[in-house]
Formats: sequence, structure tokens, C-alpha cells
Amino acid sequence: MYCIIYRSTTHSVLTQLQIQNLLNQAKDFNRKNQITGCLLYYHHEFVQYLEGEEKVVTALFDKIKKDIRHYNVDLLVSGFIYGREFKNWSMAYENFIGPNSRLEYLKMLVETYIDDENTFTTINPATKKFWTVVRTLLSTQKVEDFQ
Ligand SMILES: Cc1cc2nc3c(=O)[nH]c(=O)nc-3n(C[C@H](O)[C@H](O)[C@H](O)COP(=O)(O)O)c2cc1C
Repeated sequence: MYCIIYRSTTHSVLTQLQIQNLLNQAKDFNRKNQITGCLLYYHHEFVQYLEGEEKVVTALFDKIKKDIRHYNVDLLVSGFIYGREFKNWSMAYENFIGPNSRLEYLKMLVETYIDDENTFTTINPATKKFWTVVRTLLSTQKVEDFQ
């Protein structure tokens, strides 16, 4: 099992409809290709976690890099993992709209992650912990939101 984490920027904030189209397309492909993961969209920045078979994930990332909906696609982490972090989600998604304490905590966490100059390039316990916490926080929402 292989995993890639990257971040990128959008020119303007994408509308809900644009995001929905992106997610529909992504989830369809991911389901058919056993890719799971999570997409966070915060202040013009995407952070995406993709996991699956190495060749499939790498090929998908090559396509994502060329997507004109975002730019500055910056690989943060890639490497082999033992098991899936997001095994129940073809692409979990959070855009941080709407105040609640769970989201506030997640926002803080993601800000720290995005701002970290030394963001890790290999999967290490801190990276793993970050995504486990994200998954746990997202899991408190209805599962249907993400499938
Ligand atoms: C932030 C972001 C995340 C994306 N995530 C995925 C994804 O998880 N799976 C996927 O199939 N496409 C994803 N896409 C869409 C791909 O970039 C691309 O449009 C899609 O794979 C179709 O490519 P094709 O028309 O060349 O087949 C994402 C795009 C963006 C901008």
C-alpha cells in the first residue's frame, strides 16, 4: 500500500458546485481503482491524502498535478504504509464551513500542518497521527457525507 500527501493552491475559492463536481469525478474513479483518502480545503489551499496501489496512486497524482483547478502542487509525503487510514472513504472531504468546536480544532490542526516549514517528506509517526486525528474528527459526521 502506497500513500501520497500533497498540498496545492486555488486561484479563487472554488464554489460548492465546483467542489461537488470534482468530488463526484474523483470518487467514481477512486472506487473503481481502490483508492481511498481525504481532501481538505481551507483558505484556497488543498491538502490531499491518497492511498492505494503504488502505480495507481502515482499515475493519479501525475494527472492531479496537471489539473488547472489548482496550482503550486507541492508533494509533502510519499511512501509505503501498512494499512489504509481512510479505508471506508473513496474521498473524505472537509471545507471547514460552519462553526463548531470539532471543526475549530481541525482548523487549528490543519493550519499548523500547512504552515510547518519542515513538513515531513516521509511517513513518520507525526504524519500518521495527524491523519488519524483528521479521520477521527471527520468520522463524527455522518458517514454518508463522504461516501
Ligand atoms: C484538488 C484535487 C483533487 C483531486 N482528487 C482526485 C482524486 O482523488 N481522484 C481522481 O480520480 N481525480 C481527482 N482529481 C481530478 C483529476 O485532477 C483529474 O481531473 C481526473 O483524474 C480526470 O482526469 P482525466 O480527464 O485526464 O481522466 C482531483 C483534482 C483536484 C484539483
